Amino acid sequence: MSHHHIICSNVSFSYDKSFEILHEISFTAGHDDAIGLIGANGVGKSTLLRILVGLEMEFTGEVSIGEIKVTKKTLPRVREKIGYVFQDSENQLFMPTVYEDIAFAPRNYGLDSDQVEERVRHALDLIDIDYLKNKQPYKMSGGEKKLAAIATILAMTPDVILMDEPTIALDPRNRRRLINILNNLDHIKIIASHDLDMVLETCNRVILMSEGKIIADGETREILTNRELLEANGLELPFCLQGETGVSYKPSVPHTHIHL
Ligand SMILES: Nc1ncnc2c1ncn2[C@@H]1O[C@H](COP(=O)(O)OP(=O)(O)O)[C@@H](O)[C@H]1O
Ligand SMILES: [Mg+2]
Repeated sequence: MSHHHIICSNVSFSYDKSFEILHEISFTAGHDDAIGLIGANGVGKSTLLRILVGLEMEFTGEVSIGEIKVTKKTLPRVREKIGYVFQDSENQLFMPTVYEDIAFAPRNYGLDSDQVEERVRHALDLIDIDYLKNKQPYKMSGGEKKLAAIATILAMTPDVILMDEPTIALDPRNRRRLINILNNLDHIKIIASHDLDMVLETCNRVILMSEGKIIADGETREILTNRELLEANGLELPFCLQGETGVSYKPSVPHTHIHL
Protein backbone atom coordinates (compact mmCIF):
# COMPACT_ATOMS: atom_id res chain seq x y z
CA MET A 1 0.00 0.00 0.00
CA SER A 2 1.27 3.44 -0.91
CA HIS A 3 1.75 5.96 1.87
CA HIS A 4 1.04 8.76 -0.60
CA HIS A 5 -2.49 9.88 -0.70
CA ILE A 6 -2.41 11.89 -3.89
CA ILE A 7 -0.26 10.82 -6.78
CA CYS A 8 -0.14 13.05 -9.81
CA SER A 9 2.15 11.62 -12.43
CA ASN A 10 3.17 13.34 -15.68
CA VAL A 11 -0.16 15.07 -16.07
CA SER A 12 -0.53 17.18 -19.20
CA PHE A 13 -3.74 18.87 -20.29
CA SER A 14 -5.18 21.17 -22.95
CA TYR A 15 -8.65 22.71 -23.15
CA ASP A 16 -8.21 22.75 -26.91
CA LYS A 17 -5.53 20.95 -28.84
CA SER A 18 -3.69 24.09 -29.95
CA PHE A 19 -2.39 25.08 -26.52
CA GLU A 20 -1.08 22.98 -23.65
CA ILE A 21 -2.22 24.36 -20.28
CA LEU A 22 -0.49 21.85 -17.98
CA HIS A 23 2.78 20.19 -18.91
CA GLU A 24 4.02 17.02 -17.20
CA ILE A 25 2.87 17.87 -13.70
CA SER A 26 4.15 15.37 -11.13
CA PHE A 27 3.89 15.48 -7.36
CA THR A 28 2.70 13.35 -4.48
CA ALA A 29 0.99 14.42 -1.29
CA GLY A 30 0.91 12.53 1.99
CA HIS A 31 -1.27 12.60 5.08
CA ASP A 32 0.50 15.51 6.72
CA ASP A 33 0.46 17.82 3.74
CA ALA A 34 -1.18 21.19 3.53
CA ILE A 35 0.01 22.48 0.19
CA GLY A 36 -0.21 26.06 -1.02
CA LEU A 37 -0.51 26.03 -4.81
CA ILE A 38 0.80 29.38 -5.99
CA GLY A 39 1.66 31.12 -9.24
CA ALA A 40 0.64 34.09 -11.36
CA ASN A 41 -2.77 34.36 -13.04
CA GLY A 42 -3.36 31.79 -15.74
CA VAL A 43 -0.54 29.38 -14.84
CA GLY A 44 -3.02 26.53 -14.41
CA LYS A 45 -3.72 26.30 -10.67
CA SER A 46 -7.49 26.04 -11.00
CA THR A 47 -7.13 23.64 -13.92
CA LEU A 48 -4.92 21.36 -11.83
CA LEU A 49 -7.47 21.33 -8.98
CA ARG A 50 -10.25 20.56 -11.46
CA ILE A 51 -8.26 17.61 -12.77
CA LEU A 52 -7.60 16.25 -9.27
CA VAL A 53 -11.31 16.25 -8.47
CA GLY A 54 -12.24 14.73 -11.83
CA LEU A 55 -13.93 17.75 -13.40
CA GLU A 56 -11.58 17.61 -16.40
CA MET A 57 -10.93 14.09 -17.62
CA GLU A 58 -9.16 14.59 -20.95
CA PHE A 59 -5.67 14.68 -19.45
CA THR A 60 -2.69 12.46 -20.13
CA GLY A 61 -0.67 10.94 -17.29
CA GLU A 62 -2.15 9.49 -14.12
CA VAL A 63 -3.88 10.75 -11.02
CA SER A 64 -4.64 8.58 -7.99
CA ILE A 65 -6.45 9.54 -4.82
CA GLY A 66 -5.68 7.03 -2.11
CA GLU A 67 -5.64 3.70 -3.86
CA ILE A 68 -8.03 4.80 -6.56
CA LYS A 69 -6.86 5.78 -10.01
CA VAL A 70 -9.03 8.62 -11.33
CA THR A 71 -11.02 7.42 -14.35
CA LYS A 72 -14.58 8.04 -15.53
CA LYS A 73 -15.57 4.78 -13.86
CA THR A 74 -14.07 5.59 -10.46
CA LEU A 75 -15.32 9.19 -10.31
CA PRO A 76 -18.13 8.61 -7.78
CA ARG A 77 -15.64 7.02 -5.36
CA VAL A 78 -13.05 9.73 -5.98
CA ARG A 79 -15.62 12.44 -5.27
CA GLU A 80 -16.36 10.86 -1.88
CA LYS A 81 -12.70 11.23 -0.96
CA ILE A 82 -12.15 14.76 -2.23
CA GLY A 83 -13.98 17.87 -1.18
CA TYR A 84 -13.56 20.76 -3.59
CA VAL A 85 -14.42 24.28 -2.49
CA PHE A 86 -15.12 26.34 -5.61
CA GLN A 87 -13.63 29.79 -6.02
CA ASP A 88 -17.14 31.13 -6.36
CA SER A 89 -19.23 29.75 -3.48
CA GLU A 90 -22.45 30.73 -5.30
CA ASN A 91 -21.92 27.69 -7.49
CA GLN A 92 -21.75 25.41 -4.51
CA LEU A 93 -24.96 26.37 -2.72
CA PHE A 94 -28.18 25.57 -4.51
CA MET A 95 -30.71 24.47 -1.88
CA PRO A 96 -33.27 26.70 -0.11
CA THR A 97 -31.30 26.77 3.17
CA VAL A 98 -27.77 26.22 4.41
CA TYR A 99 -28.99 23.20 6.40
CA GLU A 100 -30.39 21.60 3.26
CA ASP A 101 -27.20 22.32 1.34
CA ILE A 102 -25.06 20.65 4.01
CA ALA A 103 -27.47 17.69 4.22
CA PHE A 104 -27.52 17.19 0.44
CA ALA A 105 -24.40 15.01 0.04
CA PRO A 106 -24.96 12.83 3.15
CA ARG A 107 -28.55 12.18 1.97
CA ASN A 108 -27.22 11.31 -1.45
CA TYR A 109 -24.89 8.77 0.14
CA GLY A 110 -28.03 7.06 1.48
CA LEU A 111 -27.47 7.81 5.17
CA ASP A 112 -30.57 7.66 7.38
CA SER A 113 -32.05 10.86 8.80
CA ASP A 114 -30.28 10.56 12.19
CA GLN A 115 -26.92 10.11 10.50
CA VAL A 116 -27.62 13.02 8.17
CA GLU A 117 -28.56 15.20 11.14
CA GLU A 118 -25.34 14.23 12.89
CA ARG A 119 -23.21 15.04 9.84
CA VAL A 120 -24.87 18.43 9.47
CA ARG A 121 -24.46 19.24 13.19
CA HIS A 122 -20.82 18.25 13.10
CA ALA A 123 -20.10 20.37 10.02
CA LEU A 124 -21.95 23.38 11.49
CA ASP A 125 -19.95 22.98 14.72
CA LEU A 126 -16.58 22.68 12.98
CA ILE A 127 -17.14 25.96 11.15
CA ASP A 128 -19.10 27.50 14.02
CA ILE A 129 -21.98 28.63 11.81
CA ASP A 130 -25.01 27.23 13.60
CA TYR A 131 -26.58 30.69 13.26
CA LEU A 132 -26.60 30.33 9.47
CA LYS A 133 -28.38 27.00 9.26
CA ASN A 134 -31.83 28.32 8.38
CA LYS A 135 -30.63 31.13 6.13
CA GLN A 136 -31.22 31.25 2.43
CA PRO A 137 -27.80 31.21 0.74
CA TYR A 138 -28.69 33.84 -1.85
CA LYS A 139 -29.33 36.33 0.95
CA MET A 140 -25.97 35.78 2.63
CA SER A 141 -22.71 37.75 2.32
CA GLY A 142 -19.74 36.42 0.35
CA GLY A 143 -17.97 35.47 3.58
CA GLU A 144 -20.99 33.61 4.94
CA LYS A 145 -21.38 31.75 1.64
CA LYS A 146 -17.74 30.69 1.75
CA LEU A 147 -18.08 29.32 5.28
CA ALA A 148 -21.31 27.51 4.35
CA ALA A 149 -19.65 26.05 1.24
CA ILE A 150 -16.82 24.68 3.39
CA ALA A 151 -19.39 23.12 5.74
CA THR A 152 -21.07 21.33 2.80
CA ILE A 153 -17.68 19.83 1.95
CA LEU A 154 -16.94 18.74 5.52
CA ALA A 155 -20.29 16.94 5.73
CA MET A 156 -18.99 14.65 2.99
CA THR A 157 -16.16 13.61 5.39
CA PRO A 158 -13.51 13.74 2.65
CA ASP A 159 -9.85 12.76 3.13
CA VAL A 160 -8.64 15.59 0.92
CA ILE A 161 -9.84 19.17 0.69
CA LEU A 162 -9.08 21.33 -2.33
CA MET A 163 -9.78 25.05 -2.17
CA ASP A 164 -9.54 27.55 -4.98
CA GLU A 165 -8.70 31.10 -3.87
CA PRO A 166 -10.63 30.73 -0.60
CA THR A 167 -9.77 34.16 0.84
CA ILE A 168 -10.85 36.16 -2.20
CA ALA A 169 -13.68 38.50 -1.21
CA LEU A 170 -13.31 37.80 2.51
CA ASP A 171 -12.99 40.72 4.90
CA PRO A 172 -10.14 40.54 7.45
CA ARG A 173 -12.33 38.99 10.15
CA ASN A 174 -13.68 36.23 7.91
CA ARG A 175 -10.24 35.70 6.43
CA ARG A 176 -8.87 35.17 9.95
CA ARG A 177 -11.73 32.76 10.68
CA LEU A 178 -10.92 30.82 7.55
CA ILE A 179 -7.24 30.59 8.52
CA ASN A 180 -8.22 29.23 11.95
CA ILE A 181 -10.60 26.73 10.36
CA LEU A 182 -7.93 25.54 7.93
CA ASN A 183 -5.44 25.10 10.74
CA ASN A 184 -7.92 23.01 12.70
CA LEU A 185 -8.71 20.62 9.85
CA ASP A 186 -6.40 17.65 9.69
CA HIS A 187 -7.38 16.71 6.16
CA ILE A 188 -4.84 16.73 3.36
CA LYS A 189 -5.24 20.19 1.88
CA ILE A 190 -4.32 21.81 -1.40
CA ILE A 191 -5.08 25.50 -1.44
CA ALA A 192 -4.65 27.51 -4.64
CA SER A 193 -4.15 31.12 -3.69
CA HIS A 194 -2.56 34.49 -4.34
CA ASP A 195 -2.82 35.24 -0.64
CA LEU A 196 0.72 34.24 0.26
CA ASP A 197 0.32 35.47 3.83
CA MET A 198 -2.53 33.01 4.30
CA VAL A 199 -0.44 30.27 2.68
CA LEU A 200 2.40 31.07 5.07
CA GLU A 201 0.06 30.61 8.03
CA THR A 202 -1.74 27.48 6.86
CA CYS A 203 0.55 25.38 4.67
CA ASN A 204 3.63 23.28 5.42
CA ARG A 205 4.51 23.01 1.76
CA VAL A 206 4.29 25.14 -1.36
CA ILE A 207 4.11 24.19 -5.01
CA LEU A 208 4.99 27.09 -7.29
CA MET A 209 3.71 26.91 -10.86
CA SER A 210 4.59 28.88 -13.94
CA GLU A 211 3.25 28.37 -17.46
CA GLY A 212 1.69 25.03 -16.67
CA LYS A 213 4.77 23.56 -14.99
CA ILE A 214 5.92 23.05 -11.43
CA ILE A 215 8.85 25.40 -10.86
CA ALA A 216 9.47 24.66 -7.19
CA ASP A 217 8.08 22.30 -4.59
CA GLY A 218 9.30 22.62 -1.02
CA GLU A 219 8.94 23.85 2.49
CA THR A 220 6.66 26.89 2.74
CA ARG A 221 9.01 29.28 4.44
CA GLU A 222 11.88 28.40 2.11
CA ILE A 223 9.86 29.27 -0.97
CA LEU A 224 7.93 32.22 0.41
CA THR A 225 11.09 33.96 1.63
CA ASN A 226 12.83 33.55 -1.72
CA ARG A 227 12.23 36.94 -3.25
CA GLU A 228 14.17 36.20 -6.41
CA LEU A 229 12.24 33.02 -7.13
CA LEU A 230 8.86 34.64 -6.42
CA GLU A 231 9.57 37.74 -8.49
CA ALA A 232 10.90 35.69 -11.41
CA ASN A 233 7.50 34.00 -11.45
CA GLY A 234 5.23 37.02 -11.25
CA LEU A 235 4.75 37.04 -7.47
CA GLU A 236 6.01 39.05 -4.52
CA LEU A 237 7.06 38.21 -1.00
CA PRO A 238 4.13 37.82 1.41
CA PHE A 239 3.20 41.27 2.80
CA CYS A 240 4.23 40.27 6.31
CA LEU A 241 7.78 39.59 5.08
CA GLN A 242 8.22 42.61 2.83
CA GLY A 243 9.81 44.69 5.55
CA GLU A 244 12.08 41.90 6.75
CA THR A 245 15.77 42.18 6.11
CA GLY A 246 17.80 39.11 5.42
CA VAL A 247 15.15 37.10 3.59
CA SER A 248 16.98 34.61 1.50
CA TYR A 249 17.68 35.19 -2.17
CA LYS A 250 18.76 31.64 -2.81
CA PRO A 251 17.09 28.40 -1.76
CA SER A 252 19.16 26.92 1.02
CA VAL A 253 17.22 23.90 2.21
CA PRO A 254 17.97 20.70 0.37
CA HIS A 255 14.35 19.44 0.28
CA THR A 256 13.29 22.44 -1.75
CA HIS A 257 13.36 21.22 -5.29
CA ILE A 258 13.62 24.04 -7.77
CA HIS A 259 13.04 23.08 -11.39
CA LEU A 260 14.83 25.59 -13.57
N1 LIG B 1 -12.74 26.42 -19.70
C1 LIG B 1 -11.63 26.87 -20.30
N2 LIG B 1 -11.49 26.82 -21.65
C2 LIG B 1 -10.38 27.26 -22.27
N3 LIG B 1 -9.31 27.79 -21.62
C3 LIG B 1 -9.40 27.88 -20.29
C4 LIG B 1 -10.55 27.43 -19.55
N4 LIG B 1 -10.33 27.64 -18.23
C5 LIG B 1 -9.09 28.18 -18.14
N5 LIG B 1 -8.54 28.33 -19.36
C6 LIG B 1 -7.20 28.84 -19.64
O1 LIG B 1 -6.28 27.97 -19.01
C7 LIG B 1 -5.19 28.71 -18.46
C8 LIG B 1 -5.03 28.36 -17.00
O2 LIG B 1 -6.17 28.81 -16.30
P1 LIG B 1 -6.40 28.57 -14.76
O3 LIG B 1 -6.20 27.13 -14.49
O4 LIG B 1 -7.73 29.15 -14.44
O5 LIG B 1 -5.22 29.41 -14.14
P2 LIG B 1 -5.03 29.98 -12.67
O6 LIG B 1 -6.05 29.34 -11.78
O7 LIG B 1 -3.63 29.65 -12.31
O8 LIG B 1 -5.22 31.48 -12.78
C9 LIG B 1 -5.48 30.17 -18.73
O9 LIG B 1 -4.76 30.54 -19.88
C10 LIG B 1 -6.96 30.20 -19.01
O10 LIG B 1 -7.28 31.24 -19.88
MG1 LIG C 1 -7.54 30.12 -10.64
